[in-house]
Amino acid sequence: MDGKNVTTGTVTLTDNTSGKSREFPVLGGTSGPRVIDIRKLYAETGMFTFDPGFVATASCRSTITYIDGDEGILLYRGYPIEELAEKSDFMEVAYLLLYGELPSAKQKEQFFHDITYHTMVHEQLASFYRGFRRDAHPMAVLCGVVGALSAFYHDSTDIHDPHQRMVASYRLIAKMPTIAAMAYKYNLGQPFVYPKNSLHYAENFLHMCFAVPCEEVKVNPVLARAMDRIFILHADHEQNASTSTVRLAGSSGANPFACIAAGIASLWGPAHGGANEAVLKMLAQIGSRDHIPEFLRRVKTHQDHTMLMGFGHRVYKHYDPRAHVLRQSCHEVLDELGIKNEPLLDLAMELERIALQDDYFVSRKLYPNVDFYSGIILRAMGFPTSLFTVLFAIARTVGWVAQWNESIEDPDSKIGRPRQLFIGSAPRHYVAVEKRGS
Ligand code: ACO
Repeated sequence: MDGKNVTTGTVTLTDNTSGKSREFPVLGGTSGPRVIDIRKLYAETGMFTFDPGFVATASCRSTITYIDGDEGILLYRGYPIEELAEKSDFMEVAYLLLYGELPSAKQKEQFFHDITYHTMVHEQLASFYRGFRRDAHPMAVLCGVVGALSAFYHDSTDIHDPHQRMVASYRLIAKMPTIAAMAYKYNLGQPFVYPKNSLHYAENFLHMCFAVPCEEVKVNPVLARAMDRIFILHADHEQNASTSTVRLAGSSGANPFACIAAGIASLWGPAHGGANEAVLKMLAQIGSRDHIPEFLRRVKTHQDHTMLMGFGHRVYKHYDPRAHVLRQSCHEVLDELGIKNEPLLDLAMELERIALQDDYFVSRKLYPNVDFYSGIILRAMGFPTSLFTVLFAIARTVGWVAQWNESIEDPDSKIGRPRQLFIGSAPRHYVAVEKRGS
């Protein structure tokens, strides 16, 4: 049944105006709600469906990630996220998402080797950075530089050749940490640090961010493990805004690097990946425990569009399982760094405690999401808030390329082209400017 769907029944829709009825197939997947197959709806009824934000629309079939939002379950290729975060590592998870199965020891070694040997970027790419202001947001830089990769690698752009698609995917997974670390170094005014092939993926990234040419820097293994775990937790999340953006961009046959740049642009928004940055800004703005009630009053009355950042999710109506893992990681990292009292963590936990007892949040099923605790860990590790979403993008690149590959291989894939409910002006004739009145 994995990889297939079956027709489990039919649904009859009756147009109460004309009295006509039509049957539509109901499809069932491996898990999750059944879906009504409405592909023939327009042809048979002359009507579209109206679903802003795709809240009730499955845009594709997928075998990669499954979320049960009511139960707080997240599975990559069937494996629970908690098990992967505890027992696996990011390279293995990347292989799993790309190929569908956990690698054998030999496959894992080969995969890690192949990714490692793509980590350097074309030297010419370094000059792109100089076109940006030093104070540019690193997501703006990331978006521009990843888009620019499309001008460098012409041998991996035939999207119908599975080998070329995989080469483009490996390049993206391998180069993203290098490009992200370069964005950080550029912002600091420090020299770029080249990747080091003897280091593991997350360790290498931390080294490129925090090493300087004038002294030896050894990455703390506890921090490298925490970084790796953050990458695992953020690697994929089925058809979220940025992944859907990648699929939509890819549906026209666009260049793979350009599609990922589109995903980065979508991820940047504060309602999506930008929320981890927004959480820290919010905590700083609240300042102390005493101000929590007043802040929550503003949230609940929607004063100045105030939201409790890091809370709520389109799919999870339960605690986000990734937030559980990160809450635990947060304590481990702070202990390792000898940070006994982190006022922001203290404030975040108190905010969570109060919100989870408040009817506004309880009745709307608003729980902490992955971003609520990730920012506190990343700050403790030494990253500035502006880099948080960049770290998310490194991890999510794996999900984006896995989903992009799947969409290209899907025989039912079509160019994404939603319809609309038009509510503008009825047809009218052009009026010469002198006859338009004042
Ligand atoms: N704070 C206050 N109220 C909220 C919040 C929040 N964080 N999230 C949702 N609500 C309220 C809405 O105002 C709405 O209330 P109403 O019924 O009185 O109008 C109700 O809860 C339902 O919310 P929707 O906006 O319909 O939920 P939707 O699924 O469209 O939005 C989203 C989900 C965008 C994540 C939203 O919860 C949000 O903006 N949260 C804060 C930003 C955030 O943390 N984003 C990260 C998401 S995880 C990720 O992308 C990695």
